[in-house]
Amino acid sequence: MTAFTINGKAVSTGVDPATPLLWVIRDELSLKGTKFGCGIAMCGACTVHVDGQAIRSCVTPVSSVANSQITTIEGLSADGQHPLQKAWIKTQAPQCGYCQSGQIMQAATLLKDYPEPTDANIDEVMNGNLCRCMAYVRIRQAIKLAAEDMKGASSHA
Ligand code: FES
Ligand code: FES
Repeated sequence: MTAFTINGKAVSTGVDPATPLLWVIRDELSLKGTKFGCGIAMCGACTVHVDGQAIRSCVTPVSSVANSQITTIEGLSADGQHPLQKAWIKTQAPQCGYCQSGQIMQAATLLKDYPEPTDANIDEVMNGNLCRCMAYVRIRQAIKLAAEDMKGASSHA
């Protein structure tokens, strides 16, 4: 058995330890917000957080996350009101939407490392998250809007 915590809930799975985490997230735990895109760590659609780091769940054996804290898009905030989620709605960032949970999860770690991200910071960190609808301009706007929102919140705290 492999045990871990996902979105604050303790779970365990008896699948083959080599099974990709993405399969467990989607098929066993029915958390469908995380997407399968390429399956080879090339698109970012499957991005989730493991102990606060953005990882590609399609190439992460479930055995490697034993006793870790995992967060998926469903657990990013309790009520869908994370500054990134609000900014994504405000800028209407998604087109088809398929890549977007991965984009948001990657962006969440970007804002931890770069609270006031420049275009270069965004390019560096978001580089591996592909969008076949070419929503990159709106994604960039949304990230900057969320950064402003978070900065405003911390300066009023
Ligand atoms: S599905 Fe994992 S990176 Fe593409
Ligand atoms: S919004 Fe369609 S793939 Fe990104």
